Amino acid sequence: MYCLLIGVSKIAINLPIFFSVRMKEWFQSWFDSPYYHILYKHRDNAEAASFIDELLQLLKPPQSASILDIACGKGRHSIYLANKGYRVTGLDLSEQNIICCRKHENDRLEFYEHDMREIFRTNDYDLALNLFTSFGYFDREHDNLRTLRSAALALRPGGYFVLDYLNPVVVNHATPKTFHKTIDGIDFTVVKETVGDRVVKSISFSDKGQEFNFKESVQLISPEKFQEYFKQTSLEVTHVFGDYNLNKYSAKDSPRLIFITQKIR
Ligand SMILES: C[S@@+](CC[C@H](N)C(=O)[O-])C[C@H]1O[C@@H](n2cnc3c(N)ncnc32)[C@H](O)[C@@H]1O
Repeated sequence: MYCLLIGVSKIAINLPIFFSVRMKEWFQSWFDSPYYHILYKHRDNAEAASFIDELLQLLKPPQSASILDIACGKGRHSIYLANKGYRVTGLDLSEQNIICCRKHENDRLEFYEHDMREIFRTNDYDLALNLFTSFGYFDREHDNLRTLRSAALALRPGGYFVLDYLNPVVVNHATPKTFHKTIDGIDFTVVKETVGDRVVKSISFSDKGQEFNFKESVQLISPEKFQEYFKQTSLEVTHVFGDYNLNKYSAKDSPRLIFITQKIR
């Protein structure tokens, strides 16, 4: 939620001036910063390539298929798919991510700064992806639904939507936890805890003499809740997997919660 601060100030002639300040949401500042990419550098191209290979083997999109990568980050999945010959569009809210992605654009690969809650295109894609926990950020349930409906709208009937999420059951049991990691000479301290129905990470470190504090706050959405969400869209769940090798989902053990859904014809 944007926070609206309203203030009144007086200038010399004593006229009140109203001003408003919009505070950034955590997901606008954290993902746009270079430090997110340092802390998560192990989530790399090799991981992306092997997961995409598994998905392609399962879904077998024809070579003519067009693919939408929603919340594409720096484009690790999009770039791999375009190199395989598919027409790919990547979308992300982060200006810095899209600037970085655009260096890879070509006649099959395009990127746009776009909020996934908003409709992008309709009936245009054979496959839409939302990968590596790019969901559950919003405070309002309505925004979760808007995101899923926009993804569904982007698909042609019969097209697939893949949502790759954290496993809320495992994450809930694993918190709270504090860990320290030194990456590229930066000492990160991460405190991970469950607050209400969210897993919250407080990330602090200093770099070049400056102190930084960021936050991640992801809703722990149960598989049942996702099923309810999908029922309110034109997407039908066809498979539920629990890891990047597409093994069956187990609430107790799986590292991920991966839904494969298909737009009703
Ligand atoms: C955890 S990262 C995953 C990025 C990418 N899918 C990957 O696997 O590398 C989440 C991404 O979601 C993007 N994001 C957050 N809120 C968004 C929104 N409302 N619309 C579009 N993208 C958003 C962030 O900028 C960030 O790049």
